[in-house]
Amino acid sequence: VTDTEVIVDLAAFRANLAALTEVVFGSEVMVVVKDDAYGHGLVELAREAEAAGVGWIGALDIPTGVLLRSHDIRMSLFSWLLDPTDDYSAAVGADLDLGVSRLSELEAIAAASAGLGTRVHLKVDTGLNRNGATATEWPVLLERAKQLQDEGAVEIIGLWTHIAEASDDEDSLSIARFRNAIEVARSLGIEAPLHHLAASAAGYGRPDARFDLVRFGAFAFGIPPGGGPSAREMGLAQTMTLRSTVARVSRDMDGNGFGLIPLGFGDGISTKAGGVCDVTIGGKRFQILEPIEIDRMWVALGGASVTVGDEVVLWGPGDAGEATVQEWADATGTMGEELVVRLNRHIPRRYLNGL
Ligand SMILES: Cc1ncc(COP(=O)(O)O)c(C=O)c1O
Repeated sequence: VTDTEVIVDLAAFRANLAALTEVVFGSEVMVVVKDDAYGHGLVELAREAEAAGVGWIGALDIPTGVLLRSHDIRMSLFSWLLDPTDDYSAAVGADLDLGVSRLSELEAIAAASAGLGTRVHLKVDTGLNRNGATATEWPVLLERAKQLQDEGAVEIIGLWTHIAEASDDEDSLSIARFRNAIEVARSLGIEAPLHHLAASAAGYGRPDARFDLVRFGAFAFGIPPGGGPSAREMGLAQTMTLRSTVARVSRDMDGNGFGLIPLGFGDGISTKAGGVCDVTIGGKRFQILEPIEIDRMWVALGGASVTVGDEVVLWGPGDAGEATVQEWADATGTMGEELVVRLNRHIPRRYLNGL
């Protein structure tokens, strides 16, 4: 049986984008498409975001930005995870916006720019310690960027940072540090049109984190944090449904049924789902049994009349009583993003309701 598929509801995706645009009214929205758009499909989702009128795509790295441009995505494409081996000329040619954390990146961009004024967003570290200029590097990066801007090699479009979004206090500290970094830029005569800091959680929940633009990943796909309100309660909808069919039914001597579903950890299903997650068949929930195998799992059917070929929903938006990704994430002790990103790309993606 091969009719396992990932269904992506593009109308739900657009509705999320509209809802998030309204939540952050006054700030711009960027859709972050890391990891094949969180497993939903890079080009399809970027195209839909563009059709929905979103202005920005967060493309993570230069190859992804260049790839999207080659698919005729016209909106602003922001790539920030730069590598010395990157093809900076290709990035300039593809008209990417580049996130710059250090001087060496800035010089490489300027060298490839050929006076084209490549748009750069200078990144300051405000506590995450991942990348971004340190407090001592920041003025040096700013001054060099200004010099290169005066020469026409780059255009300083943005000042930005990324925060942990793990605790409000830590985020408040990062916001204060970011404001300070903006002041340092001002004191050097740099007024960038865009300041940005927040991803989903802070962008949604904290007006003081929004600045000019919010970079939404998880929430754009209707994946909320664990433990808290559901996507629906937040005015969002999970865009992904994972479905399959019952491949075999067997019964023990007492008449208890067991249904085989042709999805296992080789397909990206967490082995932790056994004993704690349910699937939905014919509107009813059935528990997944341990152990989950490489290419299959079994569910306990009890006395229910389930037959081969019946549709099985592993997760969906929850509207028909099925489990959501958030419910799976809470039950297996992870975050929803991990579950969707881990789904094997060999599972076909089917897109509904596209523009
Ligand atoms: C720099 C940056 N901004 C935004 C995001 C989106 O994060 P989230 O999925 O929490 O919205 C990410 C994702 O990892 C990121 O690295």
